[in-house]
Amino acid sequence: MIMKLNVICMSHTKEVKEMENLLEIINVSKQFRSGLYLGTNFKAVDNVSFNLENGEILLLVGESGCGKTTLSNLILGILKPSSGFIKYKGKITSKFRRNEKRSFIREVQPIFQDPYSTFNPFVRIDYYFEEVCSNFGITRSKSEIEQKINEVLNQVKIDTEIKGKFVHQFSGGQIQRLSIARALLANPSLLIADEAVTMIDASLRVGILNILSDLNKLLNLAILFITHDLSVGYYMVELSERTKTVVMYRGTIVEEATGENLFLNPLHPYTRQLIESVPSVDPNKKWHSAMKHAVLELEEFNLKGCKYSKRCPFAMKICEEKEPNLFSVEHSRVRCWLYSDTVDKSIALNKLKKNQ
Ligand SMILES: Nc1ncnc2c1ncn2[C@@H]1O[C@H](COP(=O)(O)OP(=O)(O)OP(=O)(O)O)[C@@H](O)[C@H]1O
Ligand code: SF4
Ligand SMILES: [Mg+2]
Repeated sequence: MIMKLNVICMSHTKEVKEMENLLEIINVSKQFRSGLYLGTNFKAVDNVSFNLENGEILLLVGESGCGKTTLSNLILGILKPSSGFIKYKGKITSKFRRNEKRSFIREVQPIFQDPYSTFNPFVRIDYYFEEVCSNFGITRSKSEIEQKINEVLNQVKIDTEIKGKFVHQFSGGQIQRLSIARALLANPSLLIADEAVTMIDASLRVGILNILSDLNKLLNLAILFITHDLSVGYYMVELSERTKTVVMYRGTIVEEATGENLFLNPLHPYTRQLIESVPSVDPNKKWHSAMKHAVLELEEFNLKGCKYSKRCPFAMKICEEKEPNLFSVEHSRVRCWLYSDTVDKSIALNKLKKNQ
């Protein structure tokens, strides 16, 4: 691992800019119990905070089991936070009135990993789309509904006839595009795409990523794009300059940066190892992480200090004793003692010198 000394020795002051936030995740945690009887509690999401502005893409990455889907379910209201809260358009979602909740359900649309889960195999797609239009009350007359359906089909580049057809008559890639079209029928402000291309055939993945990026630009649509696959994430960053990235590890945010900074100048040792383990930035190729998954995942979740300390080549004494804060480093935030001004980093620096 190559780590530049000057990056570690940087001083870190940054003013947090007030932004026009669509979504605010504020100190959100979710505790689960692992095991049936004498189970252990652990936080699948641990004190997570970040903001998503209108029209922004936020790329949430991290290896399997780091808490991405749990966080997505907390935002969607499928799960309730154990602590912390979520704000949408400045209001706390758990305190929504009935009409605010209805608007939230319409405006925040999920795109699931398995596109088949969006559709009932026994219901014709055109009938289902008409139902969605009526349910959301976006369109009233039959001709308006038809116009809206045609509009969203164009936006996801479906040019085949959907009238009278069932889901099994489409390919996997087409079904995921239809599920995006279904979400667009609601005129959403935010799409939450959790592993949206993971189950899609490699040759069709790029097409879907391009569609999401086009929708973001065309409709100023915010997207929370969740993936464990860094090559897919990199492609999204290439497509959209406004992409912000959040890296999670064992329930916590370990790094937050612009897309460009994350891939060109990753700061956290975990992010560096993740990026180095991507063989290619081609989203058509599956990323097989070279990292070993920890045997004792639960133990890492419950570590007192840095959750990465069991794997980190630069771990210091303090790393095992105390969880690091998120330190601001230029335009990024990084949860690592290497970026603290008050910690003696001589041991880690010696390890680095040996590595260089
Ligand atoms: N309902 C639950 N009860 C107990 N543990 C859970 C529950 N849901 C998730 N977990 C655990 O919480 C951790 C985070 O799971 P989550 O599904 O959020 O991870 P993920 O980052 O989405 O992973 P993947 O990339 O595989 O989708 C995992 O250890 C998982 O086993
Ligand atoms: S805090 Fe310590 S163990 Fe954790 S990533 Fe930084 S150097 Fe490694
Ligand atoms: Mg998941």
